[in-house]
Amino acid sequence: MTRFDPAGPLRGLLHPPADKSISHRAALIAAMGDGETTIEGYLDAADTRSTLMAVEKLGAKVDRDPISRVNVGGSPRFPGRMPTGTPDPVFRICGVGLRGPRPAAIDVGNAGTLLRLLPGWLAGQDGGEWTLDGDDSIRQRPVDRIAVPLREMGADLAAREERLPPLTVRGAPLRGMTYEMPIASAQVKSCLLFAGLLAEGETSVVEPLPSRDHSERMLAAAGARIERETDAASRRSTVTIHPTERLEPGEIVVPADISSAAFFVVAGLLVPDSEVELLGVGVNPTRTGILTILERMGAAIEIEPRGEQGGEPIADLRIRPAPLHGTEVGGAEVPLAIDELPLVALAACFAEGTTTIRDAVELRRKESDRVETVAAALNALGGQVEPTADGMVVTGSGGLRGGTIDSHGDHRIAMFGAVAGLASREGVEVVGMDAAAVSYPGFETDLASLL
Ligand code: S3P
Repeated sequence: MTRFDPAGPLRGLLHPPADKSISHRAALIAAMGDGETTIEGYLDAADTRSTLMAVEKLGAKVDRDPISRVNVGGSPRFPGRMPTGTPDPVFRICGVGLRGPRPAAIDVGNAGTLLRLLPGWLAGQDGGEWTLDGDDSIRQRPVDRIAVPLREMGADLAAREERLPPLTVRGAPLRGMTYEMPIASAQVKSCLLFAGLLAEGETSVVEPLPSRDHSERMLAAAGARIERETDAASRRSTVTIHPTERLEPGEIVVPADISSAAFFVVAGLLVPDSEVELLGVGVNPTRTGILTILERMGAAIEIEPRGEQGGEPIADLRIRPAPLHGTEVGGAEVPLAIDELPLVALAACFAEGTTTIRDAVELRRKESDRVETVAAALNALGGQVEPTADGMVVTGSGGLRGGTIDSHGDHRIAMFGAVAGLASREGVEVVGMDAAAVSYPGFETDLASLL
């Protein structure tokens, strides 16, 4: 059990850790590549270590650079500024080539993104066989969302009860197709784009709403032919990929993760007298829903654009507390803020009025059922949260008393509990704080650096 007491102001400059979504993609695309790829600022956390181990099992060679260029205090990236934060390492990955992965049994650990993305690459490897399995939580994460469209392309996949890991992939020749995703999922989209690299003909994925586009950016930078067309009226986009012989990513730079930064954004907003600056944060518009929602609730977040890093826009964020009011979150905003919706619910407890989150049934299929874990946690701390089929209704209660919550092994719920504790009147005990290491092993140290 880890205790987070009501905090004095949070102050300082922090460089949050590298983006988890981008790191997974960097390791996978580097493994698909011909020759060596340098990944500067790869996330050093449990989930992304699972991906490095996976690509090694597939035959890629992974080297950690002993003299990682630092990207915190004194770094050329932040001239004149001395942020705290753990430097993200540099990795060099020597790829096996698009058609070279060796048959293997892959342990994806807790990493849903690895579970959903990797089969896309493997499905078209004629003759090979792979199994993907992971921890208790991963065994409850659906894979039919990728298995169904991959089978339409000709893939041979078998899952437990047709929809859960372990997942077996037997490589087979694939045909390109057009797939209309029933839900906006960057994982499903990325999986099918990977499959499209080896398919015969073009593969198009139609998104009902825009979702994170890191795969498209990185594949294009590695030489893949990939196009996006958006229908202005419906906002539906079609992403089309053409098969290719080889990928050459060369160098990939990973920005800081807005999903990790978001814990400090909300802490800085809720803890009186705070002033927090977060440097070099990825602000790809498909990820910044949390900033838009908090601004609509009354937050004044200064966003200072700092150009691009590895084809992704980055910015410095400055956060101070502000009075908040309730809001409505739904529709197109949901995929842009999906992993941060627990934090929206937390902020909503401190806001005046009611906040409604809807169209977010996907929250129920994350590392935990986040509708239930968030509602149970906030209610245990004195909040007023009513779970609904596809979201929740939060009645602002002027803050939270405090108490004990359980992370249920979910990294984002653990860190959300910590932020709740800092902003609460009596403090919060988090059972299972170690889950934070899935995406942010240095979370408690970074938090302490701001206190
Ligand atoms: C991710 C996409 C999202 C997100 C997850 C990471 C990714 O999932 O919740 O944490 O890296 O593609 P879905 O694509 O299933 O919505």
